Amino acid sequence: MLEITNLHAAYGDAQVLRGVSMRVDKGRIVALLGRNGMGKTTLIRSVMGMTPPHVRQGSVTFQGQELRGLRPHEIAQRHIGLVPQGRRLFASLTVTEHLTMLGRAARHRSQWSVARLFELFPRLGERRQHRGHQLSGGERQMLAVARALTQNPELLLMDEPSEGLAPVMVQHLERTVLELRQLGYAILLVEQNLYSALAVADEAYILETGSIVHHAPVDALRHDRPTMHRFLGV
Ligand SMILES: Nc1ncnc2c1ncn2[C@@H]1O[C@H](COP(=O)(O)OP(=O)(O)OP(=O)(O)O)[C@@H](O)[C@H]1O
Ligand SMILES: [Mg+2]
Repeated sequence: MLEITNLHAAYGDAQVLRGVSMRVDKGRIVALLGRNGMGKTTLIRSVMGMTPPHVRQGSVTFQGQELRGLRPHEIAQRHIGLVPQGRRLFASLTVTEHLTMLGRAARHRSQWSVARLFELFPRLGERRQHRGHQLSGGERQMLAVARALTQNPELLLMDEPSEGLAPVMVQHLERTVLELRQLGYAILLVEQNLYSALAVADEAYILETGSIVHHAPVDALRHDRPTMHRFLGV
């Protein structure tokens, strides 16, 4: 589904990604792990066509079509949804407004009506008239996921969705991710929270200073203490 091959990306002269190759297949949850500053967000931004960084070399294909050189909205139109790190929302818009911002035509094509999103996230339904700045961290995270779904993605890129959430909210998020997999979504899940990633993902890649240094099924990684210690410091 998504295939990244030998991707190099940089901020000015600072090379951050140094030949990353990885793939995400339909119906799979793939975790991208790595310590702070290793290039995870840079990879997500590169896939989405966001600048900076600048991609210098390599390719990104989705359903066999090259994405490199396309603009972020064109990539989103190809059914790739982004849940950005830090959940950028609009302070003054209500929950409902966030979910209906897309044009009517786009919404019409989406299989995610606002009502259906409120079924997936009942808490958002209860807070539908609340504005962005009035929401808790967990509610904002749910809204960021819900907003990505309105674009009708087949692949979701989630950049540290559990960051800053209480354990009960992390569990809620894990259940949501598993539900989405059941619905056939593919998910690339960037996580600092190793245990949350191990709980939901099928396989994991580890990024270390811009290169993939390990790729394994999560069931194998779970028992691989030396690798987790060496690259993730746990
Ligand atoms: N806009 C930018 N300009 C210059 N350098 C940047 C920029 N954004 C990130 N970097 C640098 O690129 C490297 C990778 O950053 P990136 O945000 O991809 O890391 P990360 O793995 O997502 O980290 P975290 O887990 O903290 O989110 C870091 O050294 C960072 O300082
Ligand atoms: Mg990051």
